[in-house]
Amino acid sequence: MKTGPDAAIIEVGPRDGLQNVASFVETTQKVSLIRRLAASGLKEIQAGAFVSPRAIPQFRDMQEVAAGIIALRSVRFSTLVPNLQGARDAVKSGIEKLIFFFSLSESHNLNNVRQTKAESLKGLEVIRRDLDAEAPAELCVALATVFGCPFEGYMTTDRILKDIDKIVNLGIKDITLCDTVGFANPRQVEEVMVACLKDFPEATFAVHFHNTRGLGLANALRAYDVGIRRFDAAIGGLGGCPFAPGASGNIATEDLAFMFNEMGIPTGIDLDALLTVSGYVKEILPGVILSSAVYRAGLPKTQTSDPECDARQGNPPFPAHQEW
Ligand code: COA
Ligand code: ZN
Repeated sequence: MKTGPDAAIIEVGPRDGLQNVASFVETTQKVSLIRRLAASGLKEIQAGAFVSPRAIPQFRDMQEVAAGIIALRSVRFSTLVPNLQGARDAVKSGIEKLIFFFSLSESHNLNNVRQTKAESLKGLEVIRRDLDAEAPAELCVALATVFGCPFEGYMTTDRILKDIDKIVNLGIKDITLCDTVGFANPRQVEEVMVACLKDFPEATFAVHFHNTRGLGLANALRAYDVGIRRFDAAIGGLGGCPFAPGASGNIATEDLAFMFNEMGIPTGIDLDALLTVSGYVKEILPGVILSSAVYRAGLPKTQTSDPECDARQGNPPFPAHQEW
């Protein structure tokens, strides 16, 4: 039974997840991972990043990865781009959605993209002009360290709104607010997201939570409750910024999809299929521990409330409001 508006889950494992893995994942494996994620019902996938291969060697094969997935029409693919060079390469490879990223905190921005925030904003404007003239790609922004920075600590809501105002003034409508190192708590998420929705009704906000301190799902649920409908998550709970000390995994796609599906909030994700993708991640990254609780525990098969799933498993329909 549907109990609320759909939640869109944006898979960032092939980008946020793989950027933090020390070993190089072969191009064919990256392509296979992305295709499997698409087959599980995910409609939007961050395929990687067009960044300097010296900064993140994992994405040195980004053009080849893009060539292997671009024909998949059921999915909207995005990539991170740090500058004009990355944006042009992304457009050339057929990627339709470019995510320019910079940080709310000056020190993380310098550490991550070796630019001041003023330089990043200038860079964003340059890319926007270039795209207006050249290509039909959509330009979005991911703002890092919004809920806290490993160098500068917490950010005030005022400071957050001021930076978003600069982004919106450049004509950007799609903005992802990132808790890069897992500082956020649900009360803070509510305060920030309510203020954003009130001050920028023309923008669409997504949230990106790392589960570093165990509050990722609680933060996502609070964001949903105040009206956010777009959520980044990574298969297996992979993820982390190599330029932020203490960073660890994103909320796991399996866990977030499980929470929403079980609550009657449609995500379009087939969890059985998704869990086979988690198995594939384990296969290609044998040394990496997957933090997804649902992957470890499995689905509570006898309690499914999805009639199609019941039919597939040969189960009788599960009563919607069973008293135990
Ligand atoms: N794609 C590929 N190569 C790129 C590039 C891009 N988007 N941008 C720059 N380069 C190359 C340049 O061509 C140059 O190569 P060369 O030395 O062979 O001539 C080299 O990188 C240095 O270029 P420069 O403009 O001086 O960049 P920089 O060294 O100041 O680095 C960034 C700036 C942003 C390019 C780099 O720090 C980066 O890619 N960071 C990514 C960070 C990231 O992804 N973090 C995780 C996400 S949160
Ligand atoms: Zn992240």
